[in-house]
Amino acid sequence: MQFQNSLQFAQQLDQQDKLRKYREEFNFPKVNDKEVIYFTGNSLGLQPKRTEAYVNEVMNDWKELAVEGHFYAKKPWWDYHERLAEPLSKIVGAKKEEITVMNTLTVNLHLLMVSFYRPTLKRFKILCEEKAFPSDQYMLASQVKFHGFDPEEAIVTIKKREGEHFWRTEDIISKIEEFGNELALVLIGGVNYYNGQVFDMEAITKAGHMVGAKVGWDLAHAAGNIKMELHNWNVDFAAWCSYKYMNAGPGNASGVFVHEKYLGKKDIPRFEGWWGHNKERRFLMEPHFDPMPNAEAWQLSNAPILSVAPYLASLSLFEEVGMNELIEKRITLTAYLEFVLTEIDKEVSSTFEIITPPERGCQLSVFLHGEGRSLFDYLMKEGVIVDWREPNVIRLAPVPFYCSFEDMYRFGQILKKGILTK
Ligand SMILES: Cc1ncc(COP(=O)(O)O)c(C=O)c1O
Repeated sequence: MQFQNSLQFAQQLDQQDKLRKYREEFNFPKVNDKEVIYFTGNSLGLQPKRTEAYVNEVMNDWKELAVEGHFYAKKPWWDYHERLAEPLSKIVGAKKEEITVMNTLTVNLHLLMVSFYRPTLKRFKILCEEKAFPSDQYMLASQVKFHGFDPEEAIVTIKKREGEHFWRTEDIISKIEEFGNELALVLIGGVNYYNGQVFDMEAITKAGHMVGAKVGWDLAHAAGNIKMELHNWNVDFAAWCSYKYMNAGPGNASGVFVHEKYLGKKDIPRFEGWWGHNKERRFLMEPHFDPMPNAEAWQLSNAPILSVAPYLASLSLFEEVGMNELIEKRITLTAYLEFVLTEIDKEVSSTFEIITPPERGCQLSVFLHGEGRSLFDYLMKEGVIVDWREPNVIRLAPVPFYCSFEDMYRFGQILKKGILTK
C-alpha cells in the first residue's frame, strides 16, 4: 500500500479498519482535556471498559455470599482460573491443558526453573540474550548461585554484532552449538523489551533441543502481540505477564505454558501446593500430592480472584477479535507509524534511527540522535504517552486494539512541531 502522511489518508485507513469499534472498549487517560495518544501498551495496556463489571461481580458475590462464593458465585471461585486456559491457549498457540494462570511473571519463571533447570557438573550453563530484562538477569543469576555455580561461568550471553542493533539467529544457533552438552537451558525473551525484536523461537528451540538443553521463553512482550505456536514448536516452558498487551491491569497475574510432554508426571521436580492437587480430591485434605493432569500441577495456591477477573475480562475481547485480526491490523498500523516517522525525519532533517529490525511485533524503538530527554518530556506534555529508555531511546507501541491511524498521523505532527520549535 502506498501510504500518505495526511490526516485524510489516516482517517481513510481508520474507516477501513475492521477493529475500529474496539477503541471504544477502552478507557483513555486525558491530558489537557483530550484523550492521549497511547504508545505504552507494551508497558501497561489500557483498561478495558468491561473490566469493572467483571471485578464488581466478584466484589458483589463476596459481599453477598462470603465463603459460599467459592461454589455459588456467578462464576464460582474454586475453578474460576480454569476459564482463562482456553482463550490463552489460542493466543500463545498451545493446548488448553498446557496453560495455567498464577502468581506473577518472575515468580513463575523461578518456579518453572525448579523443574527445567536441573544443572549437573558437566551441563550447567544457561544461554540468554545480552542485556536481558533485568528481572530475568537477577533470576538467572540467583538460580545459578542457588545450585552452587558461578553466574560468571554459568551464564552465557549472546551478543549483537558490532554496529548492529539486533541479534542474528545464526549467531544464537552457533552459540548453542558451541556450548553443546554444557548447556542446560536456553531462556530468552521472545520479543526483546528494548529493541522490539521478535526472536525465531522455533529455530532456537530446535537448536537447543539438538544439544540436549531445555528451552523456555519469557513472553512478557510477546503474549497478545505476535503469533506463536508454543506447542508445535516444542517449547518446554514459557511464562508471560498480563499487564502489557493483555490489558489485565497493573502487576496482574501471569500466564504459564508447560509442554504436554511434561504433564501428568508425578516424578518431575517441582514445587507443589494444594491447588496443583487433583481437584476432585482437593478438599479431602489428603497427605500425598496427586498432581493435576495439566499445567495446573504447577499451581501452588488458590487463585487471586480479584486479579484473575480483569484478566478474564480482557480475554473476552481477545476471544471476540482473535489474534489473526489483531496481527493483520498491527502490521499495517506499525508500518504506517514507521512511514510517518520517516517522513517527519526527512522534513526536519533530523536523525531518528529505528533500531527495531524487520522481525518485529507492535513496538518500534527509536534512537533519537541529537534529540533527547527534552523531546520526550515535550511529547508527554502534549498528551503523547511514550516511554524512555537510556541512553536516548523512545519506545512506541501502537496497539491494534485501541490505537488508530489518525493517532499515528497526529503524533507525527506533534513530533515535528516539537523538533522545529526547539
Ligand atoms: C521482559 C520482561 N521480563 C520480566 C518482567 C518482570 O515482570 P514481573 O514484575 O511481572 O515479574 C518484565 C516486566 O516488565 C519484562 O518486561
